[in-house]
Parts: sequence; C-alpha cells; structure tokens
Amino acid sequence: MSESMKGLHRSHRCTELNQSNIGQTVTVMGWVQKSRNKGGIIFVDLRDRSGLLQIIFEEGDCGKENFDKAYRLRSEFVIAVVGTVEARSGAVNENLATGTIEIRAKEVRILSESETPPFPIEENSKTKEELRLKYRYLDLRRPDLQRNFILRSQVATLTRQFLAEEGFLEIETPMLCKSTPEGARDYLVPSRVHPGNFYALPQSPQLFKQLLMVSGYDRYFQLARCFRDEDLRADRQPEFTQIDMELSFVDVDDVIDVNERLLKKVFEETIGVDVQLPIQRMTWQDAMDRYGSDKPDTRFGMELKNVSEVVKDCGFSVFTGALANGGSVRGINAEGQGEMPRKKIDALVEFAKGYGAKGLAYLAINADGTYKSSFAKFMTEEELKALVEAMNGKPGDLLLFAADKNKVVWDVLGALRLEIANQLGLLDKNQYNFLWVTEFPLLEYSEEEGRFKAMHHPFTMPMEEDLEFIDTDPGRVRAKAYDIVLNGTEIGGGSVRIFQNHIQEKMFEVLGFTKEQAYEQFGFLLNAFKYGVPPHAGLAYGLDRLVMLMAKEDSIRDVIAFPKIKDASCLMTDAPDVVDSKQLEELCIDITKAAAEEE
Ligand code: AMO
Ligand code: AMP
Repeated sequence: MSESMKGLHRSHRCTELNQSNIGQTVTVMGWVQKSRNKGGIIFVDLRDRSGLLQIIFEEGDCGKENFDKAYRLRSEFVIAVVGTVEARSGAVNENLATGTIEIRAKEVRILSESETPPFPIEENSKTKEELRLKYRYLDLRRPDLQRNFILRSQVATLTRQFLAEEGFLEIETPMLCKSTPEGARDYLVPSRVHPGNFYALPQSPQLFKQLLMVSGYDRYFQLARCFRDEDLRADRQPEFTQIDMELSFVDVDDVIDVNERLLKKVFEETIGVDVQLPIQRMTWQDAMDRYGSDKPDTRFGMELKNVSEVVKDCGFSVFTGALANGGSVRGINAEGQGEMPRKKIDALVEFAKGYGAKGLAYLAINADGTYKSSFAKFMTEEELKALVEAMNGKPGDLLLFAADKNKVVWDVLGALRLEIANQLGLLDKNQYNFLWVTEFPLLEYSEEEGRFKAMHHPFTMPMEEDLEFIDTDPGRVRAKAYDIVLNGTEIGGGSVRIFQNHIQEKMFEVLGFTKEQAYEQFGFLLNAFKYGVPPHAGLAYGLDRLVMLMAKEDSIRDVIAFPKIKDASCLMTDAPDVVDSKQLEELCIDITKAAAEEE
C-alpha cells in the first residue's frame, strides 16, 4: 500500500543537512538503505543520490501509527520523513557526511514498497556484472555509480559553459545519414519510404561539422552520439558520446590551445586535478620509437631502445634474420626484475606471442654480473656487453627483446611494457599524464585490402612539406593530425582539414577512388568546397573514455547509464530483438533462412 505526498515538500536532500540545522523541522525523502530495531527504537538509514542520513523512530515522538509504519520498513522502500534535526545521540560516524546528526521522526509515509532486490544496493558491489546490468536501474542506485554520473554531468556542463564562453555554437547534426565507406562498419536503418534504401547512423558528425564551417558558423560544438559497429572492448561501446568541435581560420596550435584550457578547467573544477600547461607534445614517430604505441602511457619509463645497430653483426640469427628482412631489434629494460622466475618469464613470452611475436628473447643480469638468457649462448662476451650497455642494463635487471618488422616489434614491446608495469603496480590512477601525439602518418597500408587507407580520416590535411611525396611515396606523408592521450588512453583526436578541392580529390585518388566514385560518395562535400571554404580544423573527445579515467574506472560501462555488453546487446531490454513480420514487410525486408538459423 502506498501513500501520497499530499501536503509534503522535500526540504533537503539527505546530506544537505548538518549541525547548523539542529533544531529545525525538515522533510526528507528517499530509499531505506537499512532499518534496525533496537528494543523500542528503530534506526533507519535513508539514502538519496546525495548520500545517507540516520533517522530515529521512537513511539513517544511519532505516535503509534507512525511507529508501526516504521516497524514495517524494509530495504529499498521509498519513504518521506518529517522530523527534527538533532545532534547524534550515539557515536559520531566519521565516515558519513551526516555522521554528527540524526533526524528524530515525527511522521513517516511509505510512498512505495520494494521487493527484496536481487543484490544489495551498496558501494563496491561484488555482484556479477551480468546481473547488475539486467537490473541496471537498481545498479544505478549504488553510490559509486551515482558519483560517476554526477561527475559526467558536471563534465558536460562545464564543457558547454567553457565552449560557449569561447564563442562556440552548439548545433545538432542528423542521426539519419548517408552511409559512407572509410571508417568502422555502419549501423544501418532501413527506409520505409524508399524500399531497399538505408540510412546510416553517424560514426561521427565529421562531414556535417565541416559543412557548418563552409556555412560560416566559425566555431561549432556538440555533445554528439556516435555509432560504430566494431568489436567491443573495455574502452569501446557501439554507441558513445563525443565532445565534438570544429573551428575556422585556425591551425594546429589554435586547436591545441583552446583544448588545453578546456581540459584544465574541467579537471580542476570536477576532480581538483591541476593540469600543467602546456601539455607535452610528441611526434608519432617518437611515440612509436620510445613507447611502441601511438598512445603512450607516460606515467612510467621502461622505454624501448632500438639495438639494431648493436646486434647487426652478432651471432644470433633471430636478430640478424629480422634485420635482413628489413625489420628491427628493440628491447625494454624491466629494471630490478632480473630475479623473475622462469615461469613468469615464459608467461611474458606467451603474452608477446599474443601480439604477433615469434618469440621473446630475454637476458637477466645476475647480481654477480653473469647472465641468465635465452640467447646468450649465440653471442660473444663482447657482443653481450655492448647489448647490455646499450640497454643501460645493471645487475638485477631483466632485458627483453623482440626482433621482427617494426610494426610487430612496436606492438609487442608496447604491450609488454604496459603488462609489466601493470604487474608491478606502476599504474597510479591518481596520476594524470596528458600527452599530445602529433604528426601522424597520413595513410597506412592495409595488407588486407591491398591499398592505402586514411589513418585518421580522408579529410585530414597532409603536412605541406610532405605533399610532394603523395604520389611517389604515400606512406611517408605526415598529417596535420593530433591525438590527446591520457594515461595511455586516446581520449580524443582531430586534425586540420583539407579545404582545397584539388587536394581532397587527390586524397580520394590515393585511397583508390575514381573521380566518379568520390563524387558519388562525397559529392556534397566536394561541391560545397567550390563555394568558398575557410581553413578549418577540429577535434573530438570520447566523453565516455574521458569520464572513465576521471572516475578511475576500468570499464567504460561504468560511466554509461545503459551500456551494451560484449556482443552489443542490452541485458536489460534484450535489444536487439526480432521484430514483427508486418514491420519487415513494410520495409520490404526478407530475413534469409541462414540469418534466421544463426539467431
Ligand atoms: P575518432 O574516430 O578518433 O575521431 O574519435 C574521437 C574519439 O572518440 C572516442 N571513441 C570511442 N569511444 C567509445 N567507444 C568507441 N567505439 C569509440 N570510438 C572512438 C575516442 C576517440 O579519440 N571525427 C573525428 C574527430 C575529428 O577529426 O574532429 C573522429 O571521430 O576517445
Ligand atoms: P629459438 O632459437 O627459436 O629457440 O629462439 C631462441 C630465443 O629467441 C627464444 O627465447 C625465443 O623466444 C627468442 N625468439 C625467437 N624469435 C624471436 C623474435 N622474433 N624476436 C625476439 N626473440 C625471439
């Protein structure tokens, strides 16, 4: 049986009350966290999104009817309480914002009752994520998740405020778009009015924001929902939110400047972190050479060293063979790990193989200067000495080497470096290391498709000084593209855009489009470029990833209210689901037998 709120108005959230309110009559509302009966006194912990507040019921204060109601209270009942604020009669609870006060109840109303929830509503839940996601509306009641969403809202509000002050206009772009190649897989939406035709949900507002620059809006931003049909990971969801922006009449430094100030404000005013400006910048080439990654985690060292020169004439054929194949030999020094047991080293070798390594050569330097190594026997004493020296190896260190094509060596050592740092507990979530990675290659060669693909997207401006190589050596051309990296996660990326039609057409040509195909797919952009285009550039953050790091969470799902699981389904609503055959008929869609069987 539930009661109405007639005549009651909530006066405070639970933790808006403190000692200065002692003596006042207040009305609070929320959920029963816990209720316990201690011989004639009932203690209730009341919870709302602000936190907990203790309520005390004694028959002498509230009368029999209210006391009987208090007696019936169970976890997750929704109640309203009218009472007076008092100093705590029992022990002060240091862990609670309201730990020095309590409410002596005069009246209680049970606004709604609750069945026993499938898991307790509490911080740091041990409940399996599957169950939590099925009952996400209960999971979202937990204080740690509530804190995440309060933080997320603050980040969004501050971003809007800052960008508005900087002269950005918030403009919405369509969700129903034209499918274009060159990106992740699209989510498609069938058109009823145009049978056999499909819209695509936007992977980002990229083309629309560029067109807004053509239209003279100058500075645009949007908290834009984006959709990408890719394999899910801990930091990837099929739908996610970008803080998306575009600016006219700017170059790289202008975009970086406004974004550094945005990050500084947001981090300071939400989690109290002072971002030191300017943020460090590193070219893509340096990032790969030093960290084996285009999103280096700079919270710790263990940098890669290229030892190709040192080992080029050594007796170890794994090293010389890789060099002969045009590859390189690089290593990392896991300082102080020379005592690592063989089993653990073997596990690292297996880990490396997971990243495409054919093997992982190791050399542990014993305290007495002798070596424990998988390849020392193939090298002379001098060769080993030179290698150890090149790696700054000291007694007690563990050196790990990969020999292969550059890309494999970078992938392997880049991942290994993180794995070891993780094992050693070097990744401090309280430390926020920002880094701009610049001068990305414009293109990367796809072995799969046998052609070049845009590393960022096809609208990214090549660096002027490299333009001359675009026909002869496209892989060498660098782009005016930049990523913003935080603790080894790419939280945002962007570029200066091509604004001259002949360069844009050239870009499509390098990507393997005929002129006709380019116009068929991107005609609206190429045509727009005929009517006066300002030079422009932009950037987009993954808002979810950003908030995930700010909230010190490991999963992006903890900062998305209703996330999807690994197979892109929603455990709460059961989406995606089959639809009525009538709906399919209207859309002229036939499900093939094979697809139906796959379900
Ligand atoms: P990009 O593809 O790099 O650039 O995306 C920008 C940022 O969005 C985040 N992100 C994701 N977050 C969660 N789940 C995903 N599946 C996902 N994919 C990307 C990342 C990434 O840095 N239009 C360009 C931006 C521009 O050039 O202005 C773009 O979309 O944090
Ligand atoms: P093998 O002669 O194949 O037994 O290899 C000797 C050592 O070199 C082993 O520790 C292998 O794991 C390692 N190894 C093999 N291939 C590579 C490679 N491409 N890069 C680095 N180490 C390798």
